[in-house]
Amino acid sequence: MPLPLIGVDDDNQIYYVNGAAEYFFSTGSQLLTKRKIDDVIPYDSPLLSLVDKSRSHGSSMQEHGLEISTPLIGQHTVNVLTAPVSDMPGFVLILFQERLLSDKMSQQLSLRGAARTVSGMAAILAHEIKNPLAGISGAAQLLAQSAGEDDIALTTLIRREADRICALVDQMELFSDVRPLKTTPLNIHTVLDHVRQVATASFARDVHFDLRYDPSLPELFGNRDQLIQLFLNLVKNAADALSSNNDGTITLSTAYQPGMRISVPGLPDRVNLPLEVCVIDNGPGIAADLMPHLFDPFVTTKLHGKGLGLALVAKIIADHGGVIDCQSDPNKTVFRVLLPVHRETPHKERVAAQ
Ligand SMILES: Nc1ncnc2c1ncn2[C@@H]1O[C@H](COP(=O)(O)OP(=O)(O)O)[C@@H](O)[C@H]1O
Ligand SMILES: [Mg+2]
Repeated sequence: MPLPLIGVDDDNQIYYVNGAAEYFFSTGSQLLTKRKIDDVIPYDSPLLSLVDKSRSHGSSMQEHGLEISTPLIGQHTVNVLTAPVSDMPGFVLILFQERLLSDKMSQQLSLRGAARTVSGMAAILAHEIKNPLAGISGAAQLLAQSAGEDDIALTTLIRREADRICALVDQMELFSDVRPLKTTPLNIHTVLDHVRQVATASFARDVHFDLRYDPSLPELFGNRDQLIQLFLNLVKNAADALSSNNDGTITLSTAYQPGMRISVPGLPDRVNLPLEVCVIDNGPGIAADLMPHLFDPFVTTKLHGKGLGLALVAKIIADHGGVIDCQSDPNKTVFRVLLPVHRETPHKERVAAQ
């Protein structure tokens, strides 16, 4: 059971804690089982009345978004489920679910939505802008043939700017690509190595890379080009954040967690996402008010940013049937990608869920 679980007897004395609960309360089971639940949870917490209700009604109770804060564990928002133990009168089980995870899952869904909105718009843009743009650029080229020196500077400007708009539209078109994903079995480490090589040869020359690969990682089924694009975007953002940092480090870590099952709202079954890849930097971090919009298109804090990097990241991950979350503190920003290993085409699953 990966969620914190605590059992209390008819006098609220703790008689059972699982490993996740030890971790959650930062206290070993030997100490916890010597205490009452009201010694661990603040006495005025609604959680205690939830336990009482479960005990007196003999039924399970749920409460969402409970704030629990103690000096030991800090502040957490959790969903709590309490249930009586059928053959032990007065005994109650308490299950905690960190809100963070469930919130992230619903955010993930809206990310899928965001990517779809952009894809519709990109298709229109591509059609309505690129054709006239080619006309403008061609006309400027014709003008240049008979223009004087001063005017050539202007026709060059017209063509350069037209090219820039064209490149932007090309980038947007990536979103409207709804063809089924072409996947092959591949080792994520070769993808990450490629990304690191490209980065150190161009935008991340002054950055130190720390590689923490889990050698037991199985292969995944994915699209190599898109996965490279995905991690390149994350590494580029990390490098951007480190630009004023003298000992800037980007850590690329992988881990295999066979037990990682997540129920994603909108998908029929719980999905197994055992492949974890993290891109971590020791830059200044992301402002709290930016966090809820981080993966939205056109959100940027950079002077020449387009705000499409993370939106594309979200789309590629959704196409691969995975999820991403981000946790950011000053000196430590972690983008965590969870991916499946299974063999079905992730795209089909995605279409079925829509
Ligand atoms: N590792 C990071 N550290 C700090 N800020 C970040 C990081 N990654 C992303 N961001 C923030 O998220 C914003 C959006 O990123 P992105 O979608 O890639 O667009 P862009 O890079 O064009 O600004 C960035 O402008 C930046 O403010
Ligand atoms: Mg970016």
